[in-house]
Amino acid sequence: MVILLNPGPVVLSERVRKALGKPDLCHREQEFIDLQNKIKTDLLDVYQLPADKWASIVFTGSGTSAMEAMMTSLIPSHGKVLIIENGIYGERLTKIANMHNIEHVVLHHEWGEEIDLEKLEGELRYHEELSHVAVVHHETTTGRLNNIDVISELCKKYRNVPILLDGVSSFAAEEIKFEEWNIAACAATANKCCHAVPGTSFVIANREAMQQMSATPARTLYLDLVTYLNAQDNNGTPFTQSVQTFYALAEALDELKDKGGWEKRQQQYWKLMDIVRNGLDKLNIKAYFDKEDCSCVLNAFQLPEGVNYQELHDKLKAVGFVIYAGQGGFEKSLFRISCMGEISESDMERFTDEMGKIINS
Ligand SMILES: Cc1ncc(COP(=O)(O)O)c(C=O)c1O
Repeated sequence: MVILLNPGPVVLSERVRKALGKPDLCHREQEFIDLQNKIKTDLLDVYQLPADKWASIVFTGSGTSAMEAMMTSLIPSHGKVLIIENGIYGERLTKIANMHNIEHVVLHHEWGEEIDLEKLEGELRYHEELSHVAVVHHETTTGRLNNIDVISELCKKYRNVPILLDGVSSFAAEEIKFEEWNIAACAATANKCCHAVPGTSFVIANREAMQQMSATPARTLYLDLVTYLNAQDNNGTPFTQSVQTFYALAEALDELKDKGGWEKRQQQYWKLMDIVRNGLDKLNIKAYFDKEDCSCVLNAFQLPEGVNYQELHDKLKAVGFVIYAGQGGFEKSLFRISCMGEISESDMERFTDEMGKIINS
């Protein structure tokens, strides 16, 4: 069996894999509505969010569809969003804004850079017209966990601007303070820290923020969250959902609950990541960031001098591990390791052993 150390899709647990084989179901039948309602409730329960204030809106697509649904459905035509970029996914938020003619300003940083709070404050002070700030929580490009505590403090200081959060690679494994951070919506997906399969994504949205959008014309047909919310609140779905991936997500959320929720998952990921960080450090392979700047979900490591990424990847794959390349400009200098999915401590110990054999050969 190959252990996937890429940031999703993940290695499935047996119970989630088995759930994929449940009986065929029509998405207009009561059994499907029960399944959808269970997922919606369980998603809110991950962060103990009350259903009268928050809605989980579930639909078929990958993480990018959740980002696009959030951006197009939460920013009204008269709104303007400040997009913070420090990696590929922040830049993707800007691409979405450009594509849908959403008014925006960009606070750009190089990939991996810490968000410049002075510059952010300057933008918030200068642009009094801002309706939202959009930011990635865990920027998977480098593994940096952006500090939403301080970002949200600044947003509160300047007209209490609400946050649109890309939580695609943090939901279910990192702390997300929905109320305290004044989050309008958070985009996420089933096949990362939730440990289900690709195909289902979701947005956790503040109901009041959604209510404000009900008078605004939809920017898209398929990704309009108001349409989904109205249908799902009335025990329906506007479009065919990916039934089997719903089965998997429902089972994965039960499993998350059984294993102690996001806090326990965070602890477990750190336990695995510590094995990797310490093991690679002994081989003189350095982590790109100190622990306090990283997410538990994925860390980036410096490719040792003279080591070709593709060769390293292929040799590790031959012994059962799939690692992940650096993106864009980091292609030749970094590689990434993720802890998501059904991975044990002994898997990670074996991984660092295999790394040692390859590096020292
Ligand atoms: C932070 C973040 N946002 C968005 C995405 C896009 O998700 P997908 O590839 O499922 O569309 C990813 C994927 O890795 C991600 O890490």
